Amino acid sequence: MVSRLLISFSVCFIFFLTSLKSQDLDVNLNSNEDSFEYEQDFLSAEFHKSRRDSLRKLLPEGSAIVFFSSPERNRSNDVYYEYHQNPNFYYLTGLREPNSMVIIYKELQRFNSFETNEVLFMQSRDKNSELWNGRRLGIERAKDRLKLNAILPNKDFLTFNPRFDSLRAVFFDSPFALEDGDTTSTDNLNGLFYHFSKKNPTELKDNQRIEGILMAQLRQIKTEEELVLLRKAVTITCEAQNKLMQEVNENMTEFQTEALVEFVFKNNGAEYTGFPSIQGSGENSCILHYTSNRRPLIKGGLLVSDIGAEYHGYTADVTRTIPPTGKFTKEQKIIYELVLEAQTAGIEAAVEGASFWQPGLITTDIIAEGLKKLGIIKHKNEVRKYFMHGTSHYLGLDVHDVGTYTPLVVGNVITVEPGIYIAQGSDCDPKWWNIGVRIEDDILITTEGPENLSTCSPRTVKAIESLMEK
Ligand code: GLY
Ligand code: MN
Ligand code: MN
Repeated sequence: MVSRLLISFSVCFIFFLTSLKSQDLDVNLNSNEDSFEYEQDFLSAEFHKSRRDSLRKLLPEGSAIVFFSSPERNRSNDVYYEYHQNPNFYYLTGLREPNSMVIIYKELQRFNSFETNEVLFMQSRDKNSELWNGRRLGIERAKDRLKLNAILPNKDFLTFNPRFDSLRAVFFDSPFALEDGDTTSTDNLNGLFYHFSKKNPTELKDNQRIEGILMAQLRQIKTEEELVLLRKAVTITCEAQNKLMQEVNENMTEFQTEALVEFVFKNNGAEYTGFPSIQGSGENSCILHYTSNRRPLIKGGLLVSDIGAEYHGYTADVTRTIPPTGKFTKEQKIIYELVLEAQTAGIEAAVEGASFWQPGLITTDIIAEGLKKLGIIKHKNEVRKYFMHGTSHYLGLDVHDVGTYTPLVVGNVITVEPGIYIAQGSDCDPKWWNIGVRIEDDILITTEGPENLSTCSPRTVKAIESLMEK
Protein backbone atom coordinates (compact mmCIF):
# COMPACT_ATOMS: atom_id res chain seq x y z
CA MET A 1 0.00 0.00 0.00
CA VAL A 2 2.74 2.36 1.10
CA SER A 3 4.85 1.50 -1.91
CA ARG A 4 1.83 2.02 -4.21
CA LEU A 5 1.29 5.38 -2.64
CA LEU A 6 4.96 6.18 -3.02
CA ILE A 7 4.88 5.16 -6.67
CA SER A 8 1.81 7.23 -7.40
CA PHE A 9 3.33 10.18 -5.47
CA SER A 10 6.55 9.84 -7.47
CA VAL A 11 4.60 9.68 -10.71
CA CYS A 12 2.70 12.79 -9.70
CA PHE A 13 5.92 14.49 -8.70
CA ILE A 14 7.60 13.61 -11.99
CA PHE A 15 4.50 14.79 -13.82
CA PHE A 16 4.61 17.99 -11.77
CA LEU A 17 8.27 18.50 -12.65
CA THR A 18 7.60 17.79 -16.31
CA SER A 19 4.70 20.17 -16.33
CA LEU A 20 6.88 22.80 -14.70
CA LYS A 21 9.42 22.24 -17.40
CA SER A 22 6.88 22.43 -20.15
CA GLN A 23 5.74 25.76 -18.72
CA ASP A 24 9.21 27.19 -18.53
CA LEU A 25 9.93 30.74 -19.52
CA ASP A 26 10.03 30.13 -23.22
CA VAL A 27 6.50 28.82 -23.19
CA ASN A 28 5.34 31.54 -20.83
CA LEU A 29 6.74 34.21 -23.08
CA ASN A 30 5.15 32.62 -26.11
CA SER A 31 1.81 32.23 -24.44
CA ASN A 32 1.92 35.91 -23.56
CA GLU A 33 2.79 36.87 -27.09
CA ASP A 34 -0.42 38.74 -27.78
CA SER A 35 -0.90 40.22 -24.35
CA PHE A 36 2.49 41.90 -24.56
CA GLU A 37 1.01 45.21 -25.66
CA TYR A 38 -1.90 46.25 -23.49
CA GLU A 39 -2.77 49.49 -25.24
CA GLN A 40 -3.84 50.03 -28.82
CA ASP A 41 -3.61 53.81 -29.04
CA PHE A 42 0.07 54.29 -29.78
CA LEU A 43 1.14 55.99 -33.00
CA SER A 44 0.71 53.64 -35.96
CA ALA A 45 3.54 51.93 -37.84
CA GLU A 46 2.32 53.91 -40.87
CA PHE A 47 2.89 57.16 -39.01
CA HIS A 48 6.50 56.26 -38.20
CA LYS A 49 7.07 55.06 -41.77
CA SER A 50 5.71 58.35 -43.13
CA ARG A 51 8.14 60.22 -40.85
CA ARG A 52 11.08 58.19 -42.16
CA ASP A 53 9.95 58.80 -45.72
CA SER A 54 9.67 62.54 -45.08
CA LEU A 55 13.10 62.62 -43.49
CA ARG A 56 14.52 60.70 -46.44
CA LYS A 57 13.15 63.34 -48.81
CA LEU A 58 15.01 66.03 -46.88
CA LEU A 59 18.34 64.16 -46.89
CA PRO A 60 20.96 65.24 -49.42
CA GLU A 61 21.74 62.88 -52.33
CA GLY A 62 24.04 60.00 -51.44
CA SER A 63 23.67 60.31 -47.69
CA ALA A 64 22.40 58.44 -44.66
CA ILE A 65 21.47 59.43 -41.14
CA VAL A 66 21.86 57.38 -37.96
CA PHE A 67 19.77 57.61 -34.77
CA PHE A 68 20.21 55.82 -31.46
CA SER A 69 17.82 54.86 -28.72
CA SER A 70 18.54 56.57 -25.39
CA PRO A 71 21.01 54.69 -23.24
CA GLU A 72 19.91 53.32 -19.87
CA ARG A 73 21.36 55.55 -17.15
CA ASN A 74 22.68 54.31 -13.84
CA ARG A 75 21.37 56.16 -10.78
CA SER A 76 23.33 54.37 -8.10
CA ASN A 77 24.62 50.88 -7.46
CA ASP A 78 22.21 48.59 -9.33
CA VAL A 79 19.37 51.10 -9.69
CA TYR A 80 18.73 52.80 -13.01
CA TYR A 81 16.81 55.97 -13.81
CA GLU A 82 13.40 55.34 -15.28
CA TYR A 83 13.93 54.64 -18.95
CA HIS A 84 12.75 57.18 -21.52
CA GLN A 85 13.19 56.83 -25.24
CA ASN A 86 15.04 59.40 -27.36
CA PRO A 87 12.18 61.38 -28.96
CA ASN A 88 13.83 61.42 -32.41
CA PHE A 89 14.26 57.67 -32.34
CA TYR A 90 10.69 57.13 -31.10
CA TYR A 91 9.31 59.46 -33.79
CA LEU A 92 11.08 57.55 -36.55
CA THR A 93 10.60 53.98 -35.35
CA GLY A 94 7.98 53.69 -32.59
CA LEU A 95 10.39 51.42 -30.69
CA ARG A 96 10.50 52.20 -26.97
CA GLU A 97 13.43 49.97 -26.02
CA PRO A 98 17.10 50.76 -25.40
CA ASN A 99 20.07 49.24 -27.26
CA SER A 100 18.82 50.08 -30.71
CA MET A 101 19.94 52.09 -33.73
CA VAL A 102 18.34 52.99 -37.03
CA ILE A 103 20.13 53.90 -40.27
CA ILE A 104 18.04 55.74 -42.83
CA TYR A 105 19.53 55.92 -46.32
CA LYS A 106 18.53 58.41 -48.96
CA GLU A 107 18.72 55.79 -51.69
CA LEU A 108 18.09 52.06 -51.82
CA GLN A 109 21.21 50.11 -50.86
CA ARG A 110 22.10 46.63 -52.06
CA PHE A 111 23.54 44.38 -49.36
CA ASN A 112 24.62 40.76 -49.82
CA SER A 113 21.24 39.16 -49.45
CA PHE A 114 18.77 42.06 -49.52
CA GLU A 115 18.05 45.60 -50.63
CA THR A 116 16.81 48.30 -48.30
CA ASN A 117 16.78 52.04 -47.62
CA GLU A 118 16.65 51.61 -43.84
CA VAL A 119 17.97 49.21 -41.24
CA LEU A 120 16.94 48.95 -37.61
CA PHE A 121 19.31 47.18 -35.24
CA MET A 122 17.63 46.18 -32.01
CA GLN A 123 18.07 44.01 -28.95
CA SER A 124 17.01 40.39 -29.27
CA ARG A 125 14.78 38.61 -26.79
CA ASP A 126 16.59 37.31 -23.74
CA LYS A 127 15.00 34.97 -21.20
CA ASN A 128 17.02 36.10 -18.24
CA SER A 129 16.75 39.80 -18.91
CA GLU A 130 13.02 39.47 -19.57
CA LEU A 131 12.51 37.59 -16.33
CA TRP A 132 14.18 40.37 -14.34
CA ASN A 133 13.47 43.52 -16.32
CA GLY A 134 10.38 42.98 -18.40
CA ARG A 135 9.46 41.78 -21.84
CA ARG A 136 11.27 42.79 -24.99
CA LEU A 137 9.61 43.19 -28.35
CA GLY A 138 12.14 40.98 -30.13
CA ILE A 139 13.06 40.83 -33.79
CA GLU A 140 10.14 38.73 -34.98
CA ARG A 141 7.41 40.82 -33.39
CA ALA A 142 9.23 43.98 -34.42
CA LYS A 143 9.09 42.87 -38.06
CA ASP A 144 5.37 42.48 -37.72
CA ARG A 145 4.67 45.62 -35.64
CA LEU A 146 7.17 48.26 -36.73
CA LYS A 147 7.13 47.60 -40.47
CA LEU A 148 10.65 48.78 -41.16
CA ASN A 149 12.16 47.44 -44.37
CA ALA A 150 15.01 45.66 -42.55
CA ILE A 151 15.37 44.71 -38.91
CA LEU A 152 18.47 42.96 -37.61
CA PRO A 153 19.63 41.83 -34.18
CA ASN A 154 22.18 44.31 -32.93
CA LYS A 155 24.96 41.74 -32.70
CA ASP A 156 24.84 41.71 -36.52
CA PHE A 157 26.24 45.24 -36.52
CA LEU A 158 29.63 43.67 -35.74
CA THR A 159 29.77 42.06 -39.17
CA PHE A 160 27.43 44.37 -41.08
CA ASN A 161 28.96 46.62 -43.69
CA PRO A 162 26.75 49.71 -43.66
CA ARG A 163 28.26 50.80 -46.99
CA PHE A 164 29.10 54.23 -45.58
CA ASP A 165 32.21 54.33 -47.80
CA SER A 166 29.98 54.54 -50.87
CA LEU A 167 28.10 57.58 -49.53
CA ARG A 168 28.95 61.26 -49.67
CA ALA A 169 27.81 61.96 -46.12
CA VAL A 170 26.63 60.09 -43.08
CA PHE A 171 25.00 62.17 -40.37
CA PHE A 172 24.48 60.98 -36.89
CA ASP A 173 22.52 62.00 -33.89
CA SER A 174 24.76 63.26 -31.08
CA PRO A 175 25.27 62.95 -28.20
CA PHE A 176 24.59 59.25 -27.87
CA ALA A 177 26.73 58.34 -30.85
CA LEU A 178 29.72 59.81 -29.07
CA GLU A 179 29.31 57.63 -26.01
CA ASP A 180 31.74 54.86 -25.48
CA GLY A 181 30.61 52.64 -22.63
CA ASP A 182 30.88 48.89 -22.41
CA THR A 183 31.80 47.60 -25.83
CA THR A 184 31.99 44.01 -24.67
CA SER A 185 28.21 43.91 -24.95
CA THR A 186 26.76 43.78 -28.43
CA ASP A 187 23.74 45.56 -26.93
CA ASN A 188 25.82 48.69 -26.61
CA LEU A 189 25.33 50.03 -30.12
CA ASN A 190 26.43 53.51 -29.09
CA GLY A 191 29.78 52.07 -28.04
CA LEU A 192 30.12 49.88 -31.09
CA PHE A 193 29.23 52.76 -33.37
CA TYR A 194 31.67 55.02 -31.52
CA HIS A 195 34.48 52.56 -32.14
CA PHE A 196 33.37 52.04 -35.71
CA SER A 197 33.41 55.79 -36.31
CA LYS A 198 36.88 56.13 -34.80
CA LYS A 199 38.14 53.45 -37.17
CA ASN A 200 36.44 55.15 -40.13
CA PRO A 201 37.03 58.81 -39.32
CA THR A 202 36.57 60.27 -42.77
CA GLU A 203 33.25 58.67 -43.44
CA LEU A 204 31.08 60.09 -40.66
CA LYS A 205 29.86 63.56 -39.88
CA ASP A 206 28.68 64.54 -36.47
CA ASN A 207 26.55 67.15 -38.06
CA GLN A 208 24.10 68.06 -35.39
CA ARG A 209 23.14 71.11 -37.34
CA ILE A 210 21.69 69.20 -40.22
CA GLU A 211 20.17 66.59 -37.93
CA GLY A 212 18.70 69.37 -35.80
CA ILE A 213 17.30 71.26 -38.73
CA LEU A 214 15.84 68.22 -40.45
CA MET A 215 14.15 66.81 -37.37
CA ALA A 216 12.95 70.25 -36.29
CA GLN A 217 11.30 70.78 -39.67
CA LEU A 218 9.40 67.54 -39.31
CA ARG A 219 8.59 67.46 -35.62
CA GLN A 220 7.33 71.03 -35.39
CA ILE A 221 4.32 70.17 -37.56
CA LYS A 222 1.99 67.84 -35.73
CA THR A 223 -0.11 65.38 -37.71
CA GLU A 224 -3.67 64.50 -36.71
CA GLU A 225 -2.43 61.26 -35.19
CA GLU A 226 0.04 63.10 -32.97
CA LEU A 227 -2.58 65.66 -32.00
CA VAL A 228 -4.83 62.92 -30.62
CA LEU A 229 -2.08 62.04 -28.12
CA LEU A 230 -1.12 65.64 -27.41
CA ARG A 231 -4.75 66.58 -26.75
CA LYS A 232 -5.03 63.62 -24.42
CA ALA A 233 -1.91 64.76 -22.50
CA VAL A 234 -3.38 68.26 -22.22
CA THR A 235 -6.77 66.99 -21.08
CA ILE A 236 -5.16 64.89 -18.35
CA THR A 237 -3.08 67.89 -17.27
CA CYS A 238 -6.18 70.11 -17.07
CA GLU A 239 -7.88 67.48 -14.94
CA ALA A 240 -4.88 67.54 -12.61
CA GLN A 241 -4.92 71.35 -12.36
CA ASN A 242 -8.64 71.29 -11.66
CA LYS A 243 -8.31 68.63 -8.99
CA LEU A 244 -5.58 70.72 -7.39
CA MET A 245 -7.87 73.76 -7.35
CA GLN A 246 -10.64 71.72 -5.77
CA GLU A 247 -8.55 69.94 -3.15
CA VAL A 248 -5.70 72.23 -2.15
CA ASN A 249 -5.71 73.85 1.27
CA GLU A 250 -3.21 75.80 3.34
CA ASN A 251 -2.36 72.83 5.55
CA MET A 252 -0.80 70.95 2.67
CA THR A 253 2.81 70.93 1.52
CA GLU A 254 4.13 71.49 -1.98
CA PHE A 255 4.97 67.80 -2.22
CA GLN A 256 1.39 66.95 -1.39
CA THR A 257 0.09 69.17 -4.18
CA GLU A 258 2.65 67.47 -6.43
CA ALA A 259 1.25 64.11 -5.32
CA LEU A 260 -2.28 65.27 -6.11
CA VAL A 261 -1.49 66.24 -9.69
CA GLU A 262 0.75 63.30 -10.43
CA PHE A 263 -1.89 60.91 -9.14
CA VAL A 264 -4.20 62.25 -11.83
CA PHE A 265 -1.49 61.75 -14.47
CA LYS A 266 -0.85 58.12 -13.57
CA ASN A 267 -4.49 57.41 -12.94
CA ASN A 268 -5.22 58.43 -16.52
CA GLY A 269 -2.46 56.30 -18.00
CA ALA A 270 0.20 58.98 -18.55
CA GLU A 271 3.52 57.14 -18.37
CA TYR A 272 5.63 60.08 -17.22
CA THR A 273 5.61 63.71 -16.26
CA GLY A 274 6.97 65.59 -19.28
CA PHE A 275 9.28 67.48 -16.87
CA PRO A 276 9.61 67.64 -13.09
CA SER A 277 6.41 69.12 -11.66
CA ILE A 278 6.80 72.69 -10.44
CA GLN A 279 4.81 73.46 -7.29
CA GLY A 280 6.17 76.76 -6.03
CA SER A 281 4.38 78.50 -3.17
CA GLY A 282 5.11 81.85 -1.53
CA GLU A 283 8.67 82.95 -2.25
CA ASN A 284 9.11 79.82 -4.40
CA SER A 285 6.49 81.12 -6.84
CA CYS A 286 9.29 83.47 -7.98
CA ILE A 287 11.71 80.64 -8.88
CA LEU A 288 11.06 79.86 -12.51
CA HIS A 289 11.92 76.16 -12.59
CA TYR A 290 11.50 75.34 -8.90
CA THR A 291 11.18 71.58 -8.43
CA SER A 292 12.21 70.62 -4.91
CA ASN A 293 8.61 71.11 -3.72
CA ARG A 294 9.27 70.79 0.03
CA ARG A 295 7.67 73.95 1.47
CA PRO A 296 4.53 73.86 3.61
CA LEU A 297 1.88 76.01 1.87
CA ILE A 298 0.80 77.68 5.12
CA LYS A 299 0.83 81.44 4.66
CA GLY A 300 2.25 80.63 1.29
CA GLY A 301 0.68 83.36 -0.81
CA LEU A 302 0.32 82.06 -4.33
CA LEU A 303 1.05 78.60 -5.67
CA VAL A 304 2.51 78.35 -9.19
CA SER A 305 1.61 74.92 -10.53
CA ASP A 306 3.47 74.26 -13.80
CA ILE A 307 2.85 70.68 -14.86
CA GLY A 308 2.60 68.40 -17.88
CA ALA A 309 1.44 64.82 -18.24
CA GLU A 310 3.29 62.85 -20.88
CA TYR A 311 1.02 60.44 -22.73
CA HIS A 312 2.56 57.98 -25.20
CA GLY A 313 5.44 60.36 -25.76
CA TYR A 314 3.58 63.68 -26.04
CA THR A 315 3.71 66.14 -23.20
CA ALA A 316 1.46 68.97 -22.13
CA ASP A 317 2.78 72.08 -20.38
CA VAL A 318 0.12 74.01 -18.50
CA THR A 319 0.63 76.51 -15.68
CA ARG A 320 -2.01 77.76 -13.32
CA THR A 321 -1.35 80.13 -10.43
CA ILE A 322 -3.76 79.81 -7.55
CA PRO A 323 -4.20 81.04 -3.96
CA PRO A 324 -4.30 77.99 -1.63
CA THR A 325 -6.76 79.94 0.55
CA GLY A 326 -9.21 80.00 -2.36
CA LYS A 327 -9.14 83.82 -2.68
CA PHE A 328 -6.59 86.10 -4.36
CA THR A 329 -5.52 89.11 -2.29
CA LYS A 330 -5.91 92.57 -3.83
CA GLU A 331 -2.24 92.75 -4.92
CA GLN A 332 -2.17 89.16 -6.15
CA LYS A 333 -5.27 89.81 -8.23
CA ILE A 334 -3.79 92.95 -9.82
CA ILE A 335 -0.62 91.11 -10.87
CA TYR A 336 -2.59 88.03 -11.96
CA GLU A 337 -4.92 90.05 -14.17
CA LEU A 338 -2.03 91.86 -15.80
CA VAL A 339 -0.42 88.51 -16.71
CA LEU A 340 -3.77 87.23 -17.95
CA GLU A 341 -4.31 90.30 -20.14
CA ALA A 342 -0.86 89.83 -21.64
CA GLN A 343 -1.42 86.11 -22.17
CA THR A 344 -4.80 86.61 -23.83
CA ALA A 345 -3.28 89.08 -26.30
CA GLY A 346 -0.30 86.76 -26.84
CA ILE A 347 -2.58 83.84 -27.69
CA GLU A 348 -4.54 85.97 -30.15
CA ALA A 349 -1.26 86.84 -31.89
CA ALA A 350 -0.39 83.17 -32.45
CA VAL A 351 -1.69 82.99 -36.00
CA GLU A 352 -0.47 81.35 -39.17
CA GLY A 353 2.21 83.50 -40.83
CA ALA A 354 3.03 85.55 -37.71
CA SER A 355 6.60 85.62 -36.48
CA PHE A 356 7.29 82.94 -33.87
CA TRP A 357 8.32 85.80 -31.59
CA GLN A 358 5.16 87.87 -32.03
CA PRO A 359 3.26 86.56 -28.97
CA GLY A 360 6.35 87.32 -26.89
CA LEU A 361 6.65 90.87 -28.16
CA ILE A 362 3.02 91.52 -27.31
CA THR A 363 3.06 89.95 -23.83
CA THR A 364 6.25 91.78 -22.95
CA ASP A 365 4.85 95.12 -24.06
CA ILE A 366 1.63 94.71 -22.09
CA ILE A 367 3.46 93.61 -18.95
CA ALA A 368 5.98 96.46 -19.27
CA GLU A 369 3.19 98.98 -19.63
CA GLY A 370 1.26 97.50 -16.70
CA LEU A 371 4.25 97.33 -14.34
CA LYS A 372 5.05 100.93 -15.16
CA LYS A 373 1.49 102.03 -14.40
CA LEU A 374 1.64 100.21 -11.07
CA GLY A 375 4.92 101.98 -10.24
CA ILE A 376 6.78 98.68 -9.96
CA ILE A 377 9.19 99.81 -12.70
CA LYS A 378 10.01 103.33 -13.80
CA HIS A 379 10.77 102.61 -17.45
CA LYS A 380 9.35 99.95 -19.72
CA ASN A 381 12.86 98.73 -20.53
CA GLU A 382 13.14 97.43 -16.94
CA VAL A 383 10.48 94.81 -17.63
CA ARG A 384 12.98 91.93 -17.68
CA LYS A 385 13.60 92.46 -13.97
CA TYR A 386 10.23 90.85 -13.31
CA PHE A 387 9.49 88.94 -16.54
CA MET A 388 12.77 87.24 -17.23
CA HIS A 389 11.85 84.34 -19.52
CA GLY A 390 10.56 83.84 -23.04
CA THR A 391 6.85 83.60 -23.77
CA SER A 392 6.71 80.64 -26.15
CA HIS A 393 8.33 77.37 -27.04
CA TYR A 394 7.28 74.51 -29.27
CA LEU A 395 5.59 71.59 -27.57
CA GLY A 396 5.43 67.93 -28.49
CA LEU A 397 7.62 64.93 -27.77
CA ASP A 398 9.81 67.26 -25.73
CA VAL A 399 8.39 69.92 -23.46
CA HIS A 400 10.76 72.39 -25.09
CA ASP A 401 10.24 70.78 -28.46
CA VAL A 402 12.38 71.22 -31.53
CA GLY A 403 11.30 73.70 -34.18
CA THR A 404 12.67 76.15 -36.70
CA TYR A 405 11.55 79.42 -35.04
CA THR A 406 10.36 80.60 -38.45
CA PRO A 407 6.89 82.14 -38.94
CA LEU A 408 4.10 80.06 -37.45
CA VAL A 409 2.48 77.42 -39.65
CA VAL A 410 -0.62 75.27 -39.30
CA GLY A 411 0.20 72.26 -37.13
CA ASN A 412 2.66 74.08 -34.86
CA VAL A 413 1.87 73.73 -31.17
CA ILE A 414 3.41 76.39 -28.96
CA THR A 415 2.98 77.56 -25.40
CA VAL A 416 2.06 81.12 -24.48
CA GLU A 417 3.26 81.64 -20.93
CA PRO A 418 3.98 85.14 -19.68
CA GLY A 419 4.76 85.71 -16.02
CA ILE A 420 5.64 88.28 -13.40
CA TYR A 421 7.91 87.35 -10.48
CA ILE A 422 8.54 89.90 -7.74
CA ALA A 423 11.01 88.33 -5.31
CA GLN A 424 11.43 89.46 -1.72
CA GLY A 425 13.71 92.50 -1.55
CA SER A 426 12.85 93.70 -5.07
CA ASP A 427 13.20 97.41 -5.74
CA CYS A 428 9.50 98.19 -5.36
CA ASP A 429 6.84 98.55 -2.67
CA PRO A 430 7.13 95.49 -0.37
CA LYS A 431 3.41 94.87 -0.78
CA TRP A 432 4.28 93.24 -4.11
CA TRP A 433 7.03 90.99 -2.73
CA ASN A 434 6.79 87.22 -3.12
CA ILE A 435 4.10 87.45 -5.74
CA GLY A 436 4.95 85.13 -8.60
CA VAL A 437 2.40 84.51 -11.35
CA ARG A 438 2.67 82.48 -14.54
CA ILE A 439 -0.21 81.46 -16.79
CA GLU A 440 0.58 78.98 -19.52
CA ASP A 441 -1.57 77.41 -22.22
CA ASP A 442 -0.89 75.13 -25.17
CA ILE A 443 -1.85 76.62 -28.51
CA LEU A 444 -2.37 74.82 -31.82
CA ILE A 445 -2.01 76.97 -34.93
CA THR A 446 -4.94 76.22 -37.27
CA THR A 447 -6.26 77.75 -40.48
CA GLU A 448 -9.03 79.26 -38.35
CA GLY A 449 -6.60 80.87 -35.92
CA PRO A 450 -5.12 79.84 -32.57
CA GLU A 451 -6.82 76.94 -30.82
CA ASN A 452 -6.21 76.91 -27.10
CA LEU A 453 -5.97 73.20 -26.23
CA SER A 454 -5.96 73.85 -22.49
CA THR A 455 -9.15 75.82 -21.93
CA CYS A 456 -10.24 72.74 -19.97
CA SER A 457 -8.67 74.36 -16.90
CA PRO A 458 -9.96 77.80 -15.84
CA ARG A 459 -7.79 80.91 -16.13
CA THR A 460 -9.77 83.88 -14.90
CA VAL A 461 -9.73 84.94 -11.25
CA LYS A 462 -13.49 84.48 -11.09
CA ALA A 463 -13.48 80.99 -12.60
CA ILE A 464 -10.55 79.83 -10.46
CA GLU A 465 -12.09 81.16 -7.24
CA SER A 466 -15.39 79.61 -8.13
CA LEU A 467 -13.83 76.18 -8.76
CA MET A 468 -11.87 76.49 -5.50
CA GLU A 469 -14.95 77.31 -3.46
CA LYS A 470 -15.43 74.51 -0.94
N1 GLY B 1 7.45 73.84 -17.69
C1 GLY B 1 8.56 74.51 -18.23
C2 GLY B 1 8.14 75.61 -19.09
O1 GLY B 1 7.07 76.12 -18.92
O2 GLY B 1 8.79 75.94 -20.04
MN1 MN C 1 5.48 75.06 -18.05
MN1 MN D 1 6.46 76.03 -21.03
